[in-house]
Amino acid sequence: MRIIIEANYDEMSKKVSKLIAKHIFYKPRTVLGLATGETPLGMYKELVSLYDSDLIDFHDITTFNLDEYLGLDKDNPQSYNYYMHNNLFNHINIPKDNINIPLGLATDIAKEAIDYELKIRRIGGIDLQILGIGRNGHIGFNEPDIKFEALTHVVKLDNQTIEDNSRFFDSMDEVPNQAISMGIKTIMRAKKIILMASGIEKADTIRDSIYGNITPTLPASVLQLHPNVTYILDKAAASKLDLHKTNIDLL
Ligand code: PGA
Repeated sequence: MRIIIEANYDEMSKKVSKLIAKHIFYKPRTVLGLATGETPLGMYKELVSLYDSDLIDFHDITTFNLDEYLGLDKDNPQSYNYYMHNNLFNHINIPKDNINIPLGLATDIAKEAIDYELKIRRIGGIDLQILGIGRNGHIGFNEPDIKFEALTHVVKLDNQTIEDNSRFFDSMDEVPNQAISMGIKTIMRAKKIILMASGIEKADTIRDSIYGNITPTLPASVLQLHPNVTYILDKAAASKLDLHKTNIDLL
């Protein structure tokens, strides 16, 4: 595991966008796994700005998003489909057919999950997976007590996640309580993983996911078992780490 600590949110966003650009530069047909939420917003802005400056070409990349709320149409402004188009896809040259986001309104949701998983597998897997992390340690919508063996599937959202995500909705009642999400096993199959986190409210979770037991009660702790994972944090999110404690590469 490698940990990169940046001074603040903007620097963290720039660092992640540069690493993505570097990956695409060396492998134009990169398969990218993408995340939503507040954390990656600055990074998506940076990617658009790199594209506007002709520094990055998205024409041959393929993307797979981690998750989508169940029951929201893809044009619903609260859907992750809308978020991704609004913050990234509408501003870059990725072909529409190369964009993959689970369908929250699929008529057969179990089949949608299997098809999504198969599509990832058929293309040869995800080269670089970007992750955020919930305060409860979730990655994707893999909530505490998830099975590490899970593939893409329907999940019930944890109360803390519903509360945390209610800031994007008019009220807590409007937050869907289910989602379709890549499973831990899907995520762990990615060749490289970058987890980004900022802010003091994530500091305890970051510390526990790096130093604590590997346990389904803290889903991100499973990343300790991944051979190529980099945490990119701002100072506040890294503030509870005891960097002398474990054998971690600091960059
Ligand atoms: P956030 O969400 O970026 O909005 O904090 C992260 C997550 O829940 O994975």
